[in-house]
Amino acid sequence: GVMVGRRWVRRRKWAKAMGLLREVEEACDAPVGRLKQVVDAMAVEMHAGLASEGGSKLRMLLTFVDSLPNGTEKGTYYALHLGGTYFRILRVQLGGKRSSILSHDMERQAIPEHLMSSRSEDLFDFIASSFKTFVEREGNSSGFPLDQKRELGFTFSFPVKQTSVSSGILIKWTKGFEIEDTVGQDVVKCLERALERKGLVMRVAALVNDTVGTLALSHYHDPDTVASVIFGTGTNACYLERMDAIIKSQGILTASGVMVVNMEWGNFWSSHLPRTHYDIDLDAESPNPNDQGFEKMISGMYLGEIVRRILLRMSQETDVFGPVSPTLSVPFILRTPLMAAMHEDDSLDLSETSKILNDILDIPEVLLNVRKLVVNVCDIVTRRAARLAAAGIVGILKKIGRDGSSGFVSGRSRGEGKMRRTVVAIEGGLYSNYSMFREYLHEAMVELLGEEAAERIELKVTLDGSGIGGALLAASHSRQIVDTAQ
Ligand code: GLC
Repeated sequence: GVMVGRRWVRRRKWAKAMGLLREVEEACDAPVGRLKQVVDAMAVEMHAGLASEGGSKLRMLLTFVDSLPNGTEKGTYYALHLGGTYFRILRVQLGGKRSSILSHDMERQAIPEHLMSSRSEDLFDFIASSFKTFVEREGNSSGFPLDQKRELGFTFSFPVKQTSVSSGILIKWTKGFEIEDTVGQDVVKCLERALERKGLVMRVAALVNDTVGTLALSHYHDPDTVASVIFGTGTNACYLERMDAIIKSQGILTASGVMVVNMEWGNFWSSHLPRTHYDIDLDAESPNPNDQGFEKMISGMYLGEIVRRILLRMSQETDVFGPVSPTLSVPFILRTPLMAAMHEDDSLDLSETSKILNDILDIPEVLLNVRKLVVNVCDIVTRRAARLAAAGIVGILKKIGRDGSSGFVSGRSRGEGKMRRTVVAIEGGLYSNYSMFREYLHEAMVELLGEEAAERIELKVTLDGSGIGGALLAASHSRQIVDTAQ
């Protein structure tokens, strides 16, 4: 009697866990029909954001970048890249011929966590002193005397309202940063003041978003590049837009007739997004509620956290994980790289998953079934993210007429009878290091575009494009007298 009863209870708890899994699976479902609605919503919101300031949750920010580096740039330039997790410093030497980035040096460090919620000055002083160390260490090897003015690109991966290619005001922080006194400030001034405090002679020649740097680098090597997307701690995209389509730019003219637009798509919102109560709770408890809704379903900062929330609920409502581990209640304890490691666990008996559950979440050894359940949760969360990401990309392609729907007519190049080759640059660890994310994204692209059109779209990974592209843009907006005769 007792044995049978216990087994029955266990089975019922297991059924409950499976029930919760089904529930999450259904709520996260993004079949192609729904994705197409997201594609359309993205294209519609892009139009709205271009039409008027505040016309959409998509800010569609002007970047004042109206031409991209073309390979004639020459000289030594620097880049400082403040991302979401890392801070990078680069020196790039340009040779003045196509594809001749002669060399680049890069240094990367994790942004100390306390600085993300400190005072503005503390953050910029940290950046400036890291840069000073970098410059001092290079000594004479850069060919730059210490007191000569250096020019740099500042890649600042947050939403900025630009007033020129080298100035702009921080609109708000994202990705967990909470430094109130920077909001509303010109971040170039903040940086220049900090550099001055360290006695460095510098000029910020270009202020760029990481998406814009990535676009610049990819375009430098491959002029068919029309857009770029970041899948890292946060997510965002930018693309080349015709000036006459940017209604809100009112009278700003560019010689090229185009401008790069930073979409800030992390803030995209549509009622068609498959949202769960886990997402709602995550948002409500974040420092930026009602903000960055798309980003919170897609990017590296949040995927592990969504999984943690689902596992916590399962643990609370069933006993499949044993007694509820207090560690499982710690926000952001499960980082996305570890979630990816469980998802892609191909070890016998999912022993890697078991180890991560144990090491990170203090969940003691669980049955194989339960490990499979965990892998399943990771799969559901990442698949949704990747499919929504694909819909975002196709939304951009649709807006610029490169999705193949009308492209076979308007995109016909030199009578070849084919849609034009279109390159979308991609950067970020979520895409580069997480193969399941990548595969699901590609799969959804094909579902949305059809095989033939999808073949014309190349997703091309750049490395350090955010930074190197920033240096390239500094070069093309440099005030140094450059000999372009060669
Ligand atoms: C966040 C920022 C955005 C950046 C993206 C990727 O969404 O708001 O500016 O491009 O993260 O780093």
